[in-house]
Amino acid sequence: MFNRPQVRDILANGQVDTTTEVLGWVVTKRTQKTFSFIEINDGSALNGLQVIVDNTIPNYDETIPLAGTGASIRVTGRILASQGAKQRIEIHADTLEVIGTIPDSYPLQKKRQSPEFLRNNAHIRSRTKVMGMSTRVRSACAQAIHRFFNEHNFQYIHTPIITASDCEGAGEMFQVTTLDLENPPRLGDKSDAPVDFTQDFFGKKTFLTVSGQLAAENLACGLSRVYTFGPTFRAENSNTTRHASEFWMIEPEMAFADLHADADLAEAFLQGVIKDVMNTCQEDLEFCEQIITNKKFKSPFFDGSKVSLLQTLEQVVNTPFQRITYTEAIDLLNKSGKKFEHSTNWGDALQTEHERYLSEELFKAPTIVTDYPAEFKSFYMYLNDDGKTVRAMDVLVPRIGEIIGGSQREDRLDVLKERIAHHGLDEKDYWWYLNLREFGTVPHAGFGLGFERLVMYVTGLQNIRDVISFPRTPKHAEF
Ligand code: 4AD
Ligand code: MG
Repeated sequence: MFNRPQVRDILANGQVDTTTEVLGWVVTKRTQKTFSFIEINDGSALNGLQVIVDNTIPNYDETIPLAGTGASIRVTGRILASQGAKQRIEIHADTLEVIGTIPDSYPLQKKRQSPEFLRNNAHIRSRTKVMGMSTRVRSACAQAIHRFFNEHNFQYIHTPIITASDCEGAGEMFQVTTLDLENPPRLGDKSDAPVDFTQDFFGKKTFLTVSGQLAAENLACGLSRVYTFGPTFRAENSNTTRHASEFWMIEPEMAFADLHADADLAEAFLQGVIKDVMNTCQEDLEFCEQIITNKKFKSPFFDGSKVSLLQTLEQVVNTPFQRITYTEAIDLLNKSGKKFEHSTNWGDALQTEHERYLSEELFKAPTIVTDYPAEFKSFYMYLNDDGKTVRAMDVLVPRIGEIIGGSQREDRLDVLKERIAHHGLDEKDYWWYLNLREFGTVPHAGFGLGFERLVMYVTGLQNIRDVISFPRTPKHAEF
């Protein structure tokens, strides 16, 4: 039976004096003289169900010792009004069956393990409160994203994972090949002659995609509003708390839209999704507030700041985002009187310390920075009339820095060709992308939201490794 009530349903709707069946794992067990307390959870809710097992049930003496933390069990029993204040109901067991036992060395015995310990046991960490929460909120974020786009007429599209073009031009791609790496075919007899990729699986060099954008642009120039939601891969060797080598990205793309429309979409989208998740994940987010911002709770996930997580989210949903140009941002950074590690001359990239200053200290709100210098941005961004800046935008949020990167796309064929050449790319590789500008070109714009960064933002978790079940980072592909 797939639709038997789960812990979540029983806690919310279980009728007192009816009988029920619960399947799950033992969270804790306390044995008294004539009965035992078991907390059981199946991962559907933050807190499990309290079960009281009297020593009068069949096989009590044999079963109870096997029902330790981590064991999987099946309970049938009667729902009673709870004596304790913590929960509305509890279960008085008629039968207890141990499905899967645990050896003495079950790693999750101790309470409040460190994030590092849990990552090293990623295969079972989803049974902890914090990882159960993180996984449920991640799922709710994904559902909210699809709901938002569905309500606004965006078609959900799927773009290739294997690609021949480096969308971001950063050269941080994982190569995909079936050539024999020990002895590849070469374009000549010498052992150091260039490898002959015409003999590779696709007849040319291919990679895992860093972004679905170029394909999304294609479909937007036909369907007007589309979005991707898929995995992307970056071989950048930055071992930070905000970078993963494999992460999920949401990339909407709109035709007949400029940078302002793009910023409007980004703002409505973040606000809509966060509002939705605050509604659907109330209990989980209240738990986040405790572990992230309440020092007394003594959680290893405490972030050291005094800022309430829920109030911050509330504020994001209800306050208009700040909007400034890159040039204004540089000005504000230079006037701030703060000493930054990285320089803030016009033309320098904004670093995380700058991004966090703007959104966290100065504006205390999500901030959209637009019109960046063309020099450090990708080839596809629309060149402004000043010839120096492009219609790019980054959405910066407190605690995280950049959460969204996007732009209006260059839709003028001649300018785009110049930009491609300027970036040292080969026009021939982009013939299909250039075609879009030849046949009924339109202004169009879009952005990319790092999905894990969104989940980090909503939960307050500070390490990207804790919002994805099996993280991929440099030197780490375990599980
Ligand atoms: O700013 P990025 O590189 O933009 C693009 O890829 C564009 N093609 C998007 C578009 O316009 N369609 O990446 C977009 C977002 C970033 O703002 C960040 O949230 C996230 O992707 N991101 C990462 N998240 C986790 N780990 C990494 N290594 C990330 N790199 C980027
Ligand atoms: Mg970016």
